Amino acid sequence: MLTTPWALRRNGILGINGRNVNYVADGNPTHLIPAVNDKIETKELARKAGVPTPELYGVIEIQAQVRHLDRILEGRESFVIKPARGAQGDGILVVDGRNRKGRKLASGKVMSDRALAHYISNVLSGMYSLQGQQDRAMLEEVVRFADVFDDVAEAGVPDLRIIVYRGVPTMAMARVPTRESDGKANLHKGGIGLGIDIATGVTIQGVYHNRIIHEHPESGAPLSGIELPEWDKIVEMSARCSEPTGLDYLGVDIVFDQERGPLLLELNARPGLSVQLSNGIGLETRLSQITDWVRPEHTLEERIAFGKSLQ
Ligand SMILES: Nc1ncnc2c1ncn2[C@@H]1O[C@H](COP(=O)(O)OP(=O)(O)O)[C@@H](O)[C@H]1O
Ligand SMILES: [Mg+2]
Repeated sequence: MLTTPWALRRNGILGINGRNVNYVADGNPTHLIPAVNDKIETKELARKAGVPTPELYGVIEIQAQVRHLDRILEGRESFVIKPARGAQGDGILVVDGRNRKGRKLASGKVMSDRALAHYISNVLSGMYSLQGQQDRAMLEEVVRFADVFDDVAEAGVPDLRIIVYRGVPTMAMARVPTRESDGKANLHKGGIGLGIDIATGVTIQGVYHNRIIHEHPESGAPLSGIELPEWDKIVEMSARCSEPTGLDYLGVDIVFDQERGPLLLELNARPGLSVQLSNGIGLETRLSQITDWVRPEHTLEERIAFGKSLQ
């Protein structure tokens, strides 16, 4: 196993240019990308694929619908407002109940109904969307995140990222927030990337500020040998996302709900490359093995089995 970034570079590491040219440009036709960049369309793709997602309670598309919020929610008081074309967590508001003064937010603050209506208007106007285009506001079920990494994720919600290439689950990582990253899982903010053995769902090592680590930088908890629950299901869900999107190179983001288990949160047509460092393995090595092996007639089961056999 490779342990330093430079060792990785000599051993089949995929760079940004290689990703953009050989995988994104060749394998991900431009006209198919908008569907995965829009979380409402992503839900439809997931439904076709038989992959569970947080329930969509409703969509607000135009200003005039904002006053019908309660009717759209059918009395539900806990929900998430999310810009359909947002990214990096911007514009996501988790509402968890209400009191006399208004809506209770997960952050502990209270927002008046009027302020909430204003917030939704801003989402529609494109305040949080890619390139500031007009957007739609999704009203989504609140995920009750399960404690899958009890000792490791003390400061927020971890998620899983699985790279799927031509329908073959290729490499996986978890992104774990830290106190330093303020509960966000972004690696550049100080989150930890955890490499996961695609065959078994057991964590390998961590990467933190571009360094390989084996213990949590804040708690000292070991980062390797953690066994993820429902791994086979997660791998299958990821592989299933491939066909309906039509994309060769795909990042699949999954979270754990306490009751519903693994749910697809979003898809990404240009997944980042930190998964390699987290695993200590270059992606290129695996992607070229897949290119040599894969044929259109391979079944879902064969693709999953091949992905799990990759070294
Ligand atoms: N339905 C939800 N319930 C609770 N938290 C959510 C929900 N959807 C998103 N979040 C929070 O927001 C983060 C980003 O959500 P995501 O759908 O991946 O959007 P983005 O494209 O902005 O990354 C998640 O990692 C999670 O912490
Ligand atoms: Mg995300």
